[in-house]
Amino acid sequence: MRYLVRSLVTLAILAVPALAIDPPRPKPAKLAPYVTSPQPVVDRMLQLAGLKSGETVYDLGCGDGRILFSAAKNFSAKAVGVELSGTLVRRTREQSETMGLSNQIKVIQGDMMQVDLKDADVVTLYLITEANDQLRPKFEKELKPGARVVSLEFKMRGWKPSKVEKVEAHRHPYTIYVYELPQKQ
Ligand SMILES: C[S@@+](CC[C@H](N)C(=O)[O-])C[C@H]1O[C@@H](n2cnc3c(N)ncnc32)[C@H](O)[C@@H]1O
Repeated sequence: MRYLVRSLVTLAILAVPALAIDPPRPKPAKLAPYVTSPQPVVDRMLQLAGLKSGETVYDLGCGDGRILFSAAKNFSAKAVGVELSGTLVRRTREQSETMGLSNQIKVIQGDMMQVDLKDADVVTLYLITEANDQLRPKFEKELKPGARVVSLEFKMRGWKPSKVEKVEAHRHPYTIYVYELPQKQ
């Protein structure tokens, strides 16, 4: 018994510095479930954002990559997707190879809150309002002047949209909100 207590105390003493050196990383929060944007809505989101050839779009929570494919194929843009799900990331990478778009598309497996957005001309979102709330300070800090944020269905609270459009797809009305970061004075 005394041996057991001594071993447990020794283990606890050894564990404390180990924890101090390498604290466990918090698990990234899943900010929205996996639901896809209908294809006609995807194209309209990118049109409303004024996505131009050669610009870079980030889809935060890229799901099956449909926004990336549309941006690369129909708008000749570069597209970066960020997605938590390893299965969806693998599927999107394979699909971009098959479509011959892998030189324009990059898919990052990870947490959207950790990805630097300084290169983004356009950011697309199909999340929920609370997730948009979490992203807003990050956008204000990292996005360049004139960058556009397009959010499907959910507003960016505290920002005034430059465009709001309702689009019908699969007999369901969708609302697209477009926001523009102010140009530097
Ligand atoms: C509603 S789906 C949108 C999919 C795609 N953007 C579209 O419009 O078709 C939201 C996606 O965000 C992903 N997601 C949720 N939280 C995330 C996080 N913290 N980092 C990266 N992706 C996340 C989910 O796994 C899901 O695929």
